[in-house]
Amino acid sequence: MKTYEVKVLGTGMYAPKKILTNVDLESIVETDAQWIFERTGIQERHICSTEGGEFPTDMALNATLDALKAANLVPNDIDLILFGTCTPDVKLPNSASILQVKLGITNNCACLDIAAACSGFIYGFNMASAMIKTGMIKNALIVGSEMLSREVNWKDRNTCILFGDGCGVALIGRAEEGSESKIYSSVLNADGTGGEFFDQPIGGAVTPLTAEHIEAGAHYMQMKGKEMFKVATRTLAENAQKVITEAGLSLEDVDWVVPHQANIRIIETTAKLIGIGMDKMIVNIHKYGNTSAATVPIAFHEAIMDGRIKRGDVVLFDAFGAGLTAGATLLKY
Ligand SMILES: CC(C)(COP(=O)(O)OP(=O)(O)OC[C@H]1O[C@@H](n2cnc3c(N)ncnc32)[C@H](O)[C@@H]1OP(=O)(O)O)[C@@H](O)C(=O)NCCC(=O)NCCS
Repeated sequence: MKTYEVKVLGTGMYAPKKILTNVDLESIVETDAQWIFERTGIQERHICSTEGGEFPTDMALNATLDALKAANLVPNDIDLILFGTCTPDVKLPNSASILQVKLGITNNCACLDIAAACSGFIYGFNMASAMIKTGMIKNALIVGSEMLSREVNWKDRNTCILFGDGCGVALIGRAEEGSESKIYSSVLNADGTGGEFFDQPIGGAVTPLTAEHIEAGAHYMQMKGKEMFKVATRTLAENAQKVITEAGLSLEDVDWVVPHQANIRIIETTAKLIGIGMDKMIVNIHKYGNTSAATVPIAFHEAIMDGRIKRGDVVLFDAFGAGLTAGATLLKY
């Protein structure tokens, strides 16, 4: 069977206009701006307008238009949309299908949402890459877009200080003849036994939402931060090592790591466990907080735009999230 190499053709991002700083949070919950910065590395986060224009598929539309321009493609060149989100515009139809219409795509491309929380972008990236490699599709749009501000409990200081809204996308497709771009290796995994460390059990088929739940604020996301921290660092390091080993490369070959941005201390600990310097870790958590599926594509896009990540660089994506899901990708950009 003929197989194809995969190339990142273009990237894009969208950050909502409203910025919420740590100092702003002091008047929302009992917290301290300095505490937040020291324990998480976060200084501010962006928050979507609830008036419209910045819902997850709106942000994705903006980001995708930039990615299309960078890739020199038109919307109908997209054969597949994989939309990583745990905060979709609506329950049905899926966000990928809504985005297809907003982009004006008329080729009936396949549309699927990926519910893998913070690993959603990497899940989409790896699945779409496999489809491009085998020739099933030519170009795929991978989205990570979240409006977590709707789903966090603004009375719970353990969670609300950590999250932000935003979107990042990547357009990937067949590498042209002679291109050095490729995917070396990828891994996806999950450990469902840790599901209760980060969940949102109210509002599904088992326990439909009631007025009492809303009154008590029981329907929001809830998290056991310390447990998540421990599993996150271990899993991120293990998956990074797995893809490097599988590719037959060494740590020195890796130019950049684009890790999920949940907490600067998670990123620092992971770097230490992998044995790689912080100078190779792409970090922007201070500006956006944890935007779940959007952290990796936003950080990737920013590092391309400011010239850190260049064509030919070896880049490692590494993410972890609720589920507990995780995934990594090692690629030559
Ligand atoms: C949530 C997190 C920042 C907490 O940091 P921590 O160093 O573990 O802090 P602790 O939970 O030990 O809390 C320390 C103290 O600060 C307090 N505290 C918690 N949140 C606070 C806040 N927002 N402001 C001020 N104080 C706070 C706690 O109540 C605790 O006080 P106590 O010792 O009197 O009980 C950290 O565990 C974390 O980032 N975990 C990973 C979460 C995550 O990102 N998960 C998603 C991965 S996809």
